[in-house]
Amino acid sequence: MQTEPAKPLLRALGGEKLLSTPWWLMRQAGRYLPEYRQVRAQAKDFVELCLTPQLAAELTMQPIRRFRMDGAILFSDILMVPYALEQKLAFHEGVGPVLEPLEDLAAIIRFDPRGVVGSLDPVFETVRRVRAGLGPQIALIGFAGAPWTVATYMLEGGTSRDFRRVKSSAYRDPAGFDALIELLSQVTVEYLSGQIRAGAEAVQLFDSWAGVLPERAFVRWVIEPSRRIVVALKEHFPGCPVIGFPRGAGVQYERYFRETGVDAVSIDTAVPPRYARQTLQPLGAVQGNLDPALLIAGGAALAEAVRGLRHELGGGPYVFNLGHGVLPETPPEQVQILARLLGEPMDC
Ligand code: CP3
Repeated sequence: MQTEPAKPLLRALGGEKLLSTPWWLMRQAGRYLPEYRQVRAQAKDFVELCLTPQLAAELTMQPIRRFRMDGAILFSDILMVPYALEQKLAFHEGVGPVLEPLEDLAAIIRFDPRGVVGSLDPVFETVRRVRAGLGPQIALIGFAGAPWTVATYMLEGGTSRDFRRVKSSAYRDPAGFDALIELLSQVTVEYLSGQIRAGAEAVQLFDSWAGVLPERAFVRWVIEPSRRIVVALKEHFPGCPVIGFPRGAGVQYERYFRETGVDAVSIDTAVPPRYARQTLQPLGAVQGNLDPALLIAGGAALAEAVRGLRHELGGGPYVFNLGHGVLPETPPEQVQILARLLGEPMDC
Protein backbone atom coordinates (compact mmCIF):
# COMPACT_ATOMS: atom_id res chain seq x y z
CA MET A 1 0.00 0.00 0.00
CA GLN A 2 1.28 3.43 -0.87
CA THR A 3 1.46 5.93 1.96
CA GLU A 4 0.62 9.54 1.15
CA PRO A 5 3.56 11.97 1.24
CA ALA A 6 3.73 13.74 4.58
CA LYS A 7 2.62 17.35 4.90
CA PRO A 8 5.49 19.85 4.42
CA LEU A 9 5.31 21.17 7.99
CA LEU A 10 5.54 17.65 9.42
CA ARG A 11 8.42 16.74 7.12
CA ALA A 12 10.40 19.79 8.27
CA LEU A 13 9.63 19.09 11.94
CA GLY A 14 10.78 15.53 11.33
CA GLY A 15 14.21 16.84 10.32
CA GLU A 16 13.95 17.11 6.52
CA LYS A 17 15.43 20.00 4.62
CA LEU A 18 12.84 21.17 2.09
CA LEU A 19 13.12 23.27 -1.05
CA SER A 20 10.20 25.46 -0.05
CA THR A 21 9.74 26.94 3.43
CA PRO A 22 6.75 25.69 5.45
CA TRP A 23 5.31 28.40 7.69
CA TRP A 24 2.74 29.33 10.29
CA LEU A 25 2.59 32.17 12.80
CA MET A 26 2.19 32.10 16.55
CA ARG A 27 -1.09 33.90 17.33
CA GLN A 28 -2.11 33.71 13.69
CA ALA A 29 -5.72 33.87 14.89
CA GLY A 30 -6.55 36.99 16.85
CA ARG A 31 -7.48 40.62 17.06
CA TYR A 32 -5.51 41.74 14.00
CA LEU A 33 -8.15 39.95 11.87
CA PRO A 34 -11.51 41.75 11.46
CA GLU A 35 -13.27 38.39 11.11
CA TYR A 36 -11.84 37.36 14.51
CA ARG A 37 -13.17 40.53 16.15
CA GLN A 38 -16.57 39.81 14.68
CA VAL A 39 -16.74 36.28 16.15
CA ARG A 40 -15.24 37.48 19.43
CA ALA A 41 -18.08 40.00 19.79
CA GLN A 42 -20.61 37.13 19.62
CA ALA A 43 -19.23 35.25 22.62
CA LYS A 44 -19.86 36.17 26.22
CA ASP A 45 -16.20 35.89 27.09
CA PHE A 46 -12.91 34.50 25.86
CA VAL A 47 -13.12 31.27 27.89
CA GLU A 48 -16.53 30.56 26.38
CA LEU A 49 -15.00 31.09 22.94
CA CYS A 50 -12.31 28.49 23.68
CA LEU A 51 -14.96 26.01 24.92
CA THR A 52 -17.40 26.38 22.01
CA PRO A 53 -16.13 23.97 19.33
CA GLN A 54 -18.04 25.54 16.48
CA LEU A 55 -16.58 29.01 17.18
CA ALA A 56 -13.09 27.80 18.11
CA ALA A 57 -12.92 25.70 14.93
CA GLU A 58 -14.01 28.71 12.89
CA LEU A 59 -11.30 30.87 14.52
CA THR A 60 -8.67 28.19 13.87
CA MET A 61 -9.58 28.23 10.18
CA GLN A 62 -9.82 32.00 9.64
CA PRO A 63 -6.10 32.65 9.04
CA ILE A 64 -5.83 29.47 6.93
CA ARG A 65 -8.58 30.61 4.59
CA ARG A 66 -6.92 33.99 4.11
CA PHE A 67 -3.26 33.04 3.96
CA ARG A 68 -3.01 29.22 3.54
CA MET A 69 -0.27 28.66 6.10
CA ASP A 70 1.21 25.14 6.30
CA GLY A 71 0.03 24.78 9.89
CA ALA A 72 -3.30 25.50 11.58
CA ILE A 73 -2.91 26.07 15.32
CA LEU A 74 -5.81 25.04 17.50
CA PHE A 75 -7.66 28.07 18.81
CA SER A 76 -7.52 27.91 22.59
CA ASP A 77 -5.28 29.33 25.32
CA ILE A 78 -2.54 28.05 27.61
CA LEU A 79 -4.63 29.23 30.56
CA MET A 80 -7.33 26.63 29.93
CA VAL A 81 -5.27 24.31 32.17
CA PRO A 82 -5.56 26.54 35.28
CA TYR A 83 -9.23 26.93 34.33
CA ALA A 84 -9.59 23.12 34.34
CA LEU A 85 -7.91 23.15 37.77
CA GLU A 86 -10.83 25.30 38.88
CA GLN A 87 -8.87 28.50 39.22
CA LYS A 88 -11.05 31.53 38.43
CA LEU A 89 -10.01 33.01 35.08
CA ALA A 90 -11.17 36.07 33.16
CA PHE A 91 -9.78 38.09 30.27
CA HIS A 92 -10.14 41.82 30.64
CA GLU A 93 -10.02 44.15 27.67
CA GLY A 94 -6.69 45.95 27.57
CA VAL A 95 -5.38 44.13 30.66
CA GLY A 96 -5.05 40.50 29.61
CA PRO A 97 -5.74 37.44 31.72
CA VAL A 98 -6.72 37.80 35.37
CA LEU A 99 -6.62 34.76 37.64
CA GLU A 100 -7.43 34.56 41.30
CA PRO A 101 -3.86 34.11 42.60
CA LEU A 102 -3.19 30.79 44.31
CA GLU A 103 -2.52 31.39 47.97
CA ASP A 104 -1.76 27.86 48.95
CA LEU A 105 0.33 25.41 46.96
CA ALA A 106 -0.94 22.49 49.05
CA ALA A 107 -4.54 23.18 48.02
CA ILE A 108 -3.94 22.66 44.33
CA ILE A 109 -1.92 19.51 44.59
CA ARG A 110 -4.92 17.46 45.67
CA PHE A 111 -6.23 17.37 42.08
CA ASP A 112 -6.23 14.09 40.19
CA PRO A 113 -4.60 14.91 36.84
CA ARG A 114 -6.70 12.30 35.07
CA GLY A 115 -9.98 13.90 36.09
CA VAL A 116 -8.92 17.44 35.27
CA VAL A 117 -8.86 17.18 31.51
CA GLY A 118 -12.51 16.02 31.26
CA SER A 119 -13.67 19.63 31.50
CA LEU A 120 -11.61 20.37 28.38
CA ASP A 121 -13.49 17.86 26.19
CA PRO A 122 -14.86 20.71 24.04
CA VAL A 123 -11.25 21.51 23.05
CA PHE A 124 -10.85 17.95 21.75
CA GLU A 125 -14.10 18.34 19.82
CA THR A 126 -12.64 21.50 18.22
CA VAL A 127 -9.59 19.51 17.17
CA ARG A 128 -11.79 16.80 15.59
CA ARG A 129 -13.81 19.36 13.67
CA VAL A 130 -10.80 21.23 12.34
CA ARG A 131 -8.99 18.07 11.36
CA ALA A 132 -12.02 16.82 9.46
CA GLY A 133 -12.15 20.00 7.38
CA LEU A 134 -8.45 20.60 6.81
CA GLY A 135 -6.89 20.24 3.34
CA PRO A 136 -4.39 17.45 2.63
CA GLN A 137 -1.33 19.75 2.79
CA ILE A 138 -2.02 21.58 6.05
CA ALA A 139 -1.07 20.15 9.43
CA LEU A 140 -3.00 20.71 12.66
CA ILE A 141 -0.90 21.88 15.61
CA GLY A 142 -2.06 21.33 19.17
CA PHE A 143 -0.48 23.12 22.11
CA ALA A 144 -0.21 23.69 25.82
CA GLY A 145 1.69 26.01 28.11
CA ALA A 146 4.77 24.45 29.67
CA PRO A 147 4.47 23.95 33.46
CA TRP A 148 6.75 26.83 34.47
CA THR A 149 4.92 29.41 32.35
CA VAL A 150 1.49 28.18 33.45
CA ALA A 151 2.67 28.26 37.09
CA THR A 152 3.72 31.91 36.68
CA TYR A 153 0.16 32.85 35.71
CA MET A 154 -1.31 30.71 38.50
CA LEU A 155 0.80 32.31 41.22
CA GLU A 156 1.05 35.87 39.89
CA GLY A 157 -2.62 36.07 38.95
CA GLY A 158 -1.76 37.39 35.48
CA THR A 159 1.15 38.60 33.41
CA SER A 160 4.01 39.78 35.59
CA ARG A 161 6.85 42.24 35.30
CA ASP A 162 9.30 40.68 37.71
CA PHE A 163 7.79 37.33 38.78
CA ARG A 164 8.42 38.11 42.43
CA ARG A 165 5.52 36.03 43.75
CA VAL A 166 6.11 32.87 41.77
CA LYS A 167 9.87 33.04 42.25
CA SER A 168 9.73 33.70 45.96
CA SER A 169 7.23 30.82 46.44
CA ALA A 170 9.45 28.50 44.41
CA TYR A 171 12.67 29.45 46.18
CA ARG A 172 11.08 29.39 49.63
CA ASP A 173 9.38 26.01 49.18
CA PRO A 174 11.05 24.22 46.27
CA ALA A 175 9.53 20.84 47.17
CA GLY A 176 6.01 22.32 47.24
CA PHE A 177 6.69 24.07 43.94
CA ASP A 178 8.02 20.82 42.47
CA ALA A 179 4.68 19.24 43.35
CA LEU A 180 2.79 21.97 41.46
CA ILE A 181 5.11 21.58 38.47
CA GLU A 182 4.65 17.80 38.58
CA LEU A 183 0.86 18.15 38.69
CA LEU A 184 0.97 20.55 35.74
CA SER A 185 3.28 18.16 33.86
CA GLN A 186 0.84 15.28 34.31
CA VAL A 187 -2.16 17.38 33.32
CA THR A 188 -0.24 18.65 30.28
CA VAL A 189 0.53 15.10 29.17
CA GLU A 190 -3.15 14.15 29.49
CA TYR A 191 -4.24 17.32 27.73
CA LEU A 192 -1.82 17.02 24.80
CA SER A 193 -2.54 13.29 24.50
CA GLY A 194 -6.24 14.13 24.18
CA GLN A 195 -5.45 16.66 21.46
CA ILE A 196 -3.30 14.15 19.57
CA ARG A 197 -5.94 11.42 19.83
CA ALA A 198 -8.50 13.90 18.48
CA GLY A 199 -6.32 14.69 15.46
CA ALA A 200 -3.47 17.10 16.32
CA GLU A 201 -0.46 16.14 14.18
CA ALA A 202 2.23 18.09 16.06
CA VAL A 203 2.21 19.86 19.42
CA GLN A 204 3.97 22.94 20.75
CA LEU A 205 4.90 23.58 24.36
CA PHE A 206 4.85 27.33 25.01
CA ASP A 207 7.34 28.29 27.74
CA SER A 208 6.95 32.03 27.24
CA TRP A 209 8.66 32.94 30.52
CA ALA A 210 11.51 30.40 30.41
CA GLY A 211 13.97 33.27 30.05
CA VAL A 212 13.50 34.79 33.48
CA LEU A 213 15.08 31.97 35.50
CA PRO A 214 18.67 31.53 36.66
CA GLU A 215 20.46 28.41 35.50
CA ARG A 216 19.62 25.94 38.25
CA ALA A 217 15.98 26.94 38.33
CA PHE A 218 15.85 26.75 34.53
CA VAL A 219 17.08 23.17 34.64
CA ARG A 220 14.70 22.19 37.43
CA TRP A 221 11.50 23.93 36.31
CA VAL A 222 11.90 24.35 32.55
CA ILE A 223 14.09 21.53 31.20
CA GLU A 224 13.13 18.73 33.60
CA PRO A 225 9.33 18.95 33.35
CA SER A 226 9.52 19.51 29.59
CA ARG A 227 11.70 16.42 29.26
CA ARG A 228 9.24 14.33 31.27
CA ILE A 229 6.35 15.56 29.11
CA VAL A 230 8.25 14.67 25.93
CA VAL A 231 9.15 11.19 27.26
CA ALA A 232 5.51 10.49 28.17
CA LEU A 233 4.18 11.73 24.82
CA LYS A 234 6.77 9.81 22.83
CA GLU A 235 5.83 6.61 24.62
CA HIS A 236 2.29 6.76 23.22
CA PHE A 237 2.72 8.90 20.12
CA PRO A 238 6.26 8.37 18.80
CA GLY A 239 5.40 9.84 15.39
CA CYS A 240 3.99 13.13 16.67
CA PRO A 241 6.60 15.92 16.61
CA VAL A 242 6.96 18.10 19.70
CA ILE A 243 8.08 21.73 19.31
CA GLY A 244 9.54 23.48 22.37
CA PHE A 245 9.44 27.27 22.72
CA PRO A 246 11.58 28.29 25.71
CA ARG A 247 11.30 31.99 24.96
CA GLY A 248 14.27 34.04 26.15
CA ALA A 249 16.41 30.98 26.96
CA GLY A 250 19.46 32.53 25.25
CA VAL A 251 22.54 30.35 25.51
CA GLN A 252 20.44 27.71 27.30
CA TYR A 253 18.62 26.92 24.05
CA GLU A 254 21.20 24.28 23.19
CA ARG A 255 20.93 22.48 26.50
CA TYR A 256 17.14 22.72 26.36
CA PHE A 257 17.14 21.12 22.89
CA ARG A 258 19.56 18.34 23.86
CA GLU A 259 18.02 17.44 27.18
CA THR A 260 14.26 17.77 26.63
CA GLY A 261 14.23 15.59 23.51
CA VAL A 262 11.91 17.92 21.58
CA ASP A 263 11.97 17.47 17.79
CA ALA A 264 12.17 21.19 17.12
CA VAL A 265 12.81 24.42 18.95
CA SER A 266 11.02 27.66 18.23
CA ILE A 267 13.53 30.48 18.60
CA ASP A 268 12.61 33.90 19.92
CA THR A 269 13.45 37.16 18.16
CA ALA A 270 16.75 37.66 19.99
CA VAL A 271 18.38 34.36 18.94
CA PRO A 272 20.95 35.00 16.19
CA PRO A 273 19.98 32.91 13.12
CA ARG A 274 23.62 31.96 12.56
CA TYR A 275 23.85 30.54 16.09
CA ALA A 276 20.63 28.64 15.40
CA ARG A 277 22.07 27.22 12.19
CA GLN A 278 25.41 26.22 13.68
CA THR A 279 24.34 25.05 17.13
CA LEU A 280 20.65 24.15 17.05
CA GLN A 281 19.91 22.78 13.57
CA PRO A 282 22.35 19.86 13.98
CA LEU A 283 20.06 18.77 16.85
CA GLY A 284 16.78 18.99 14.92
CA ALA A 285 14.42 21.42 13.28
CA VAL A 286 14.44 25.14 14.02
CA GLN A 287 11.34 27.33 13.87
CA GLY A 288 11.32 31.12 13.93
CA ASN A 289 12.14 33.97 14.37
CA LEU A 290 10.99 37.06 12.49
CA ASP A 291 10.50 40.07 14.75
CA PRO A 292 6.68 40.48 14.95
CA ALA A 293 7.18 44.26 14.66
CA LEU A 294 8.46 43.73 11.10
CA LEU A 295 4.94 42.64 10.18
CA ILE A 296 3.78 46.09 11.24
CA ALA A 297 6.65 47.89 9.52
CA GLY A 298 6.45 45.97 6.23
CA GLY A 299 8.31 47.22 3.16
CA ALA A 300 11.98 46.56 2.45
CA ALA A 301 12.74 45.80 6.10
CA LEU A 302 10.28 42.89 6.07
CA ALA A 303 11.43 41.53 2.70
CA GLU A 304 15.08 41.70 3.68
CA ALA A 305 14.55 40.00 7.03
CA VAL A 306 12.53 37.16 5.47
CA ARG A 307 15.17 36.65 2.81
CA GLY A 308 17.92 36.68 5.44
CA LEU A 309 16.22 34.07 7.61
CA ARG A 310 15.58 31.70 4.72
CA HIS A 311 19.14 32.14 3.54
CA GLU A 312 20.58 31.40 6.98
CA LEU A 313 18.24 28.58 8.05
CA GLY A 314 16.77 27.16 4.82
CA GLY A 315 19.77 24.85 4.34
CA GLY A 316 18.53 22.65 7.20
CA PRO A 317 15.21 21.56 8.68
CA TYR A 318 13.39 24.88 9.02
CA VAL A 319 9.88 26.17 9.71
CA PHE A 320 9.32 29.87 9.22
CA ASN A 321 7.55 31.61 12.12
CA LEU A 322 7.77 34.74 14.24
CA GLY A 323 9.96 35.14 17.30
CA HIS A 324 6.75 35.70 19.31
CA GLY A 325 3.06 36.18 18.49
CA VAL A 326 1.42 38.37 15.85
CA LEU A 327 0.77 41.82 17.35
CA PRO A 328 -2.84 43.08 17.35
CA GLU A 329 -1.84 46.19 15.33
CA THR A 330 -0.56 44.06 12.42
CA PRO A 331 -2.24 44.94 9.11
CA PRO A 332 -3.53 41.68 7.61
CA GLU A 333 -2.18 42.85 4.23
CA GLN A 334 1.36 42.51 5.60
CA VAL A 335 0.72 38.85 6.37
CA GLN A 336 -0.45 38.47 2.77
CA ILE A 337 2.82 40.05 1.63
CA LEU A 338 4.72 37.65 3.87
CA ALA A 339 2.84 34.70 2.33
CA ARG A 340 3.88 35.91 -1.10
CA LEU A 341 7.52 36.36 -0.06
CA LEU A 342 7.61 32.83 1.31
CA GLY A 343 6.14 31.52 -1.94
CA GLU A 344 9.16 32.81 -3.87
CA PRO A 345 12.03 30.38 -4.49
CA MET A 346 14.93 30.58 -2.07
CA ASP A 347 18.04 32.47 -3.20
CA CYS A 348 20.54 29.79 -2.25
O1 CP3 B 1 -3.54 31.63 16.89
C1 CP3 B 1 -3.00 31.07 17.88
O2 CP3 B 1 -1.79 31.16 18.15
C2 CP3 B 1 -3.85 30.10 18.69
C3 CP3 B 1 -4.38 30.58 19.90
C4 CP3 B 1 -3.54 31.04 21.08
C5 CP3 B 1 -4.00 32.06 21.95
N1 CP3 B 1 -3.13 32.15 22.99
C6 CP3 B 1 -5.22 32.85 21.74
C7 CP3 B 1 -5.42 34.11 22.47
C8 CP3 B 1 -2.33 30.58 21.60
C9 CP3 B 1 -1.38 29.53 21.04
C10 CP3 B 1 -2.10 31.28 22.82
C11 CP3 B 1 -0.94 31.01 23.69
C12 CP3 B 1 -0.73 31.84 24.88
N2 CP3 B 1 -1.68 32.39 25.70
C13 CP3 B 1 0.54 32.13 25.44
C14 CP3 B 1 1.86 31.63 24.90
C15 CP3 B 1 2.37 32.46 23.79
C16 CP3 B 1 2.78 33.84 24.19
O3 CP3 B 1 2.09 34.79 23.75
O4 CP3 B 1 3.78 34.00 24.92
C17 CP3 B 1 0.34 32.92 26.59
C18 CP3 B 1 1.42 33.49 27.49
C19 CP3 B 1 -1.08 33.08 26.75
C20 CP3 B 1 -1.79 33.79 27.84
C21 CP3 B 1 -2.59 34.92 27.32
N3 CP3 B 1 -3.77 34.78 26.61
C22 CP3 B 1 -2.31 36.30 27.45
C23 CP3 B 1 -1.11 36.88 28.14
C24 CP3 B 1 -3.35 36.98 26.80
C25 CP3 B 1 -3.56 38.49 26.77
C26 CP3 B 1 -2.70 39.15 25.77
C27 CP3 B 1 -3.45 39.35 24.51
O5 CP3 B 1 -2.85 39.16 23.44
O6 CP3 B 1 -4.63 39.70 24.59
C28 CP3 B 1 -4.24 36.02 26.25
C29 CP3 B 1 -5.47 36.27 25.45
C30 CP3 B 1 -5.55 35.65 24.10
N4 CP3 B 1 -5.16 34.37 23.78
C31 CP3 B 1 -6.10 36.26 22.95
C32 CP3 B 1 -6.03 35.31 21.92
C33 CP3 B 1 -6.53 35.44 20.51
C34 CP3 B 1 -6.73 37.66 22.88
C35 CP3 B 1 -8.07 37.61 23.49
C36 CP3 B 1 -8.95 38.74 23.04
O7 CP3 B 1 -8.94 39.77 23.69
O8 CP3 B 1 -9.68 38.57 22.05
